[in-house]
Amino acid sequence: MRIAINTGGGDAPGLNAAIRSATLSAIRRGWEVFGIRNGYGSLYTSEPFIPLTREKVHGITMDGGTILGAANRGNPFEMPYQKEDGSWDLQDRSDEAVEVFKSNNIDALVAIGGDGSMRIANRFSKKGIPVVGVPKTIDNDIWGCEITLGFDTAVSTATEAIDKITTTAESHRRIMVVEVMGRYAGWIALHSGLSASADVILIPEIEFSVDAIADKILKKEKKGETYSIVVVAEGSKEVGGDHFVKGKVLGQSEQLGGVGEYLEKKLSEMTGKESRSIVLGHLQRGGTPSTSDRLISLRFGAAAIRAIEEKDFNKMIVMQQNEIRRIPLSDVADKIKLVPLGGDTILTAREIGICLGD
Ligand code: F6P
Repeated sequence: MRIAINTGGGDAPGLNAAIRSATLSAIRRGWEVFGIRNGYGSLYTSEPFIPLTREKVHGITMDGGTILGAANRGNPFEMPYQKEDGSWDLQDRSDEAVEVFKSNNIDALVAIGGDGSMRIANRFSKKGIPVVGVPKTIDNDIWGCEITLGFDTAVSTATEAIDKITTTAESHRRIMVVEVMGRYAGWIALHSGLSASADVILIPEIEFSVDAIADKILKKEKKGETYSIVVVAEGSKEVGGDHFVKGKVLGQSEQLGGVGEYLEKKLSEMTGKESRSIVLGHLQRGGTPSTSDRLISLRFGAAAIRAIEEKDFNKMIVMQQNEIRRIPLSDVADKIKLVPLGGDTILTAREIGICLGD
């Protein structure tokens, strides 16, 4: 057997552990393992694959990032290219990629990635490439999977940052608005905000009213609580409003951002209090994976190889009730997993008096 491993989309802590686990599990079976570099980028170069050996994956479980490189651009089905007139467009170069897999006798692909990567994996499977998906994203928004690799570390990083911001907020009696990642789902904001005792948590699943947030802050003020922490997911929307978008590049999903700064100004005007905002940004994607992320990643990587051995292709490995299972890739593509509004984490937040912006 000759298998290839790809890490697509944004990086996340735990990717290297998954690469190591998949590689060692495959080598133990006598298979050859190859890495695709920079998303699917290297498929279009003279060196489409690099051999993954025991030595290559030695000691990387604790390393953040991915030894294979990552790319948010470069979907083989929608590759940006520059036209003769200088403008940019997208073209489908997936047939070339399929040909590269075939001419290099690659028997199966382990696609480690987020929702976008699972969509690509599903399209490759329809073109005859046997694929097994591994769910990775700090956003924890992949449908069908209770927890994705990278989420736990990102939440811990965000929680620690909010803890630090809380001490300075208290000293200066300020409103501090912390914008966290998560795209269109509020998992990072909800889990870190709750863990760090935020006063207000805003998630994309619940449209916010600035009046409700200001009211919460002023009520605290009356009780002598002179500072407030607002944690806002980058994909949050005001009632009747749209996502805050920083930019859009062809071939990439829109870049979210700006809601924190918007709230900083609005809340200061409405409460008369000094306010500051901070965007945690890519800090949340970096660093050493937590123990939990290392374990999930190692389990996912080995599980992908078991699926290939059983020829159970075109599936994604998932964690459900702390058990590894497989679900069809076609069930996952084009869906995302949002925070359930009736779930007990939301209920907990409400019961302990956190304002959710509604
Ligand atoms: O999907 C992971 C993620 O970190 C999102 O939370 C965020 O919106 C996006 O990627 C940022 O992407 P980029 O690295 O392209 O700025």
